[in-house]
Amino acid sequence: MQRYYVTTPIYYVNDDPHIGHAYTTIAADVLARHNRLSGRDVFFLTGVDEHGQKVEQAAQRQGIQPIELADSVVRRYRSLWPELEISNDDFIRTTEERHRKAVIAMWKRLQAAGAIYKGFYKDWYCVPCETYWTETQLKDTGSKDAGSLDDKHCPDCGRNVDQVQEESYFFRLGDYQEKLLEHIHANPDFIGPDSRRNEVLRFVEGGLRDLSVSRTTFSWGIPVPDDDAHVIYVWIDALTNYLTAAGFPDADMPHWPADVHLIGKDILRFHAVYWPCMLMAADLPLPKRIFAHGWWTVEGEKMSKSKGNALQPDKLLEAYDADTIRYFMLREVPFGQDGDFSFTALRQRYNTELANDMGNLLNRSLSMLYKYQDGKLAAIGSEQAGDRALVAAVEAMQRNVDAAIGKQAFHEALEQINAVVRQGNRYVEENAPWALFKQGDRERLATVLYHLVESLRLVVLQLSPFMPEKCALMLGQILHTEVNVETLSLADHGGWGLLQAGHVCARPEPVFPRLD
Ligand code: MSP
Repeated sequence: MQRYYVTTPIYYVNDDPHIGHAYTTIAADVLARHNRLSGRDVFFLTGVDEHGQKVEQAAQRQGIQPIELADSVVRRYRSLWPELEISNDDFIRTTEERHRKAVIAMWKRLQAAGAIYKGFYKDWYCVPCETYWTETQLKDTGSKDAGSLDDKHCPDCGRNVDQVQEESYFFRLGDYQEKLLEHIHANPDFIGPDSRRNEVLRFVEGGLRDLSVSRTTFSWGIPVPDDDAHVIYVWIDALTNYLTAAGFPDADMPHWPADVHLIGKDILRFHAVYWPCMLMAADLPLPKRIFAHGWWTVEGEKMSKSKGNALQPDKLLEAYDADTIRYFMLREVPFGQDGDFSFTALRQRYNTELANDMGNLLNRSLSMLYKYQDGKLAAIGSEQAGDRALVAAVEAMQRNVDAAIGKQAFHEALEQINAVVRQGNRYVEENAPWALFKQGDRERLATVLYHLVESLRLVVLQLSPFMPEKCALMLGQILHTEVNVETLSLADHGGWGLLQAGHVCARPEPVFPRLD
């Protein structure tokens, strides 16, 4: 069976989950569910990043141990994901023993390859970003007050950076510059979207400097083997999680390399530069693809702790169901671009696309089936051009959804689905079943109703990775039985014509009541 391994970033435990975290996880979940539906052996990983100075400092501020802070945030993630219908196969914590072992093994492999050496370090460090900056990088990016040494700012987030000066281990990142460029050129799909690929190319072409990979100024992390004054840099620790869950350092890692690492645009360099270079140095296969999505603002504003406007998924779930949130986030913004979360936009999308189009099509189709044929599908007559066009549209949609999801274009996949729904509603108008009934044309009526219900079944099947609960309800009405979407497959259920004459659908019940 073909395997498919998808990951989310592991989230820092210094902060509560917000919709930015939910976004990547929902997107990864749709990839996982779509690939399961397509018959692949899926491994879907998410988890948390517990080490590093940022978490240590957050715990200090609250007067607790880092592990206590981590435990409480982990509880929140673990209860949130099922509520959002996240179907992850594993949840990794970087404080687990399996991970410590993997990080140590990774370190030793890099060391054995001669890719790590001990040196002396003098740089600037942004704690919130856990990122090092050189003097030149601060000046080049025009961070304000760049001239004064005690007031420097991070080129990424604009907050103050601290000067650090310490003995440190280094990773010979610079040695892999050419190999990485070759790899990116030879594998056009390695980094998506294209704009991010270009960004990485420009960055690497600008020259890679060796990377400091240990710290001596704090202790919350995994100690360097045989030199426990040093803690392994949190990004080396964190990135290795993708291997840990795949079974590293065991020789047998059936799921590695990952098919896709989904990430946000802010952590592109770590994933598309540091990580592949580490893997090359360790002589391990590289992930097949890294896709960086954009950032959400909320009602036009950047989410921030100080503004207190970070939108928390559990609050959102008090007002809207998981499926509506999932649908909105993946439909509203082309994946890869930035977007704005607004409640007006959410209600508008729901009311037009789900209540008016999708919900209405199902409801009117099943209602007519009950009104004219006691809920029962009847033998069909010969197909007309409009019928064939509907079948062709459904089959094209199946192929296009698969292609769109294969390149993480969720908005395109949903547009393909919605286009068939709109065509279905036009088909109703064009064929006017109520007139066929009046004219007593039972055969034509049966043909039209069959095409409606069968196309709905296949549309809902394709929509099910996005909206598992609503689709289970809709399929439940069509098939007149309780449906577990997780057991469905395109191979067994994706063909046109599987519904038989004589099948009785359930009475329609509204699935998408209008939101006001
Ligand atoms: N721990 C690291 C990742 C290590 S992966 C080996 C980290 N954690 S994080 O919790 O700060 O961020 C995780 C993800 O949340 C990132 O992909 C980031 O892009 C995403 N988001 C944070 N704020 C966001 C928005 N406002 N909008 C969308 N995604 C956002 O970085």
